Amino acid sequence: MQALEAIAARRSYRGRFAPVPVPREHLKIILQAGLDAPSGCNKQTTSLIAVDDPALMRCLHAVIQPPVGETAPAMICVLTRRLIAYRDRCFAVQDYAAAIENMLLAAVALGYQSCWYEGHITDTDRIGEKMAGILGVPPEYELVCFLPIGIPLEQATMPKKRAFEDRAWFNGFPAAPDGKKP
Ligand SMILES: Cc1cc2nc3c(=O)[nH]c(=O)nc-3n(C[C@H](O)[C@H](O)[C@H](O)COP(=O)(O)O)c2cc1C
Repeated sequence: MQALEAIAARRSYRGRFAPVPVPREHLKIILQAGLDAPSGCNKQTTSLIAVDDPALMRCLHAVIQPPVGETAPAMICVLTRRLIAYRDRCFAVQDYAAAIENMLLAAVALGYQSCWYEGHITDTDRIGEKMAGILGVPPEYELVCFLPIGIPLEQATMPKKRAFEDRAWFNGFPAAPDGKKP
């Protein structure tokens, strides 16, 4: 699949997945796409753990409440280290966001779907910390997101998005409707 087709086909998929294992070589391609992402000052603050062991998947999903992505045969957990890039600047969030998007696109290009589950696992109930504990993640790493990976059984729905011309412009911010510059 071409890059632009994968970008257009990616959706936050929250439906059921086919009970078909994801081959290791596909998981490696997706992980590599994440590692290939840019990072501020090349600090490479993002690390990744792919999980495809069914028993371990069950342990992880036992702490993901309410359940999401629980029918996926594999998942990728995204870890970050909040390292300083320079002076007081830390780009860890941007780094892992770039890695996640690369992985979502790679997954789609290989025929899978996924969803960026970050809000769900970094909320006050600290699901990410429980997942990190199960995976033996050292304390200097934070588990901030997981991506279920699997073949979708349902059609992903396109959420309502604002129009192109509401959010993207050429050569400057558009004038207000009354013709006045903002
Ligand atoms: C930082 C971030 C956190 C997100 N966390 C969640 C989440 O916890 N649960 C969820 O269902 N979707 C989550 N999403 C997916 C968004 O809801 C989704 O991208 C948005 O609704 C637009 O839909 P689309 O991805 O299909 O374009 C998250 C997305 C981002 C970028």
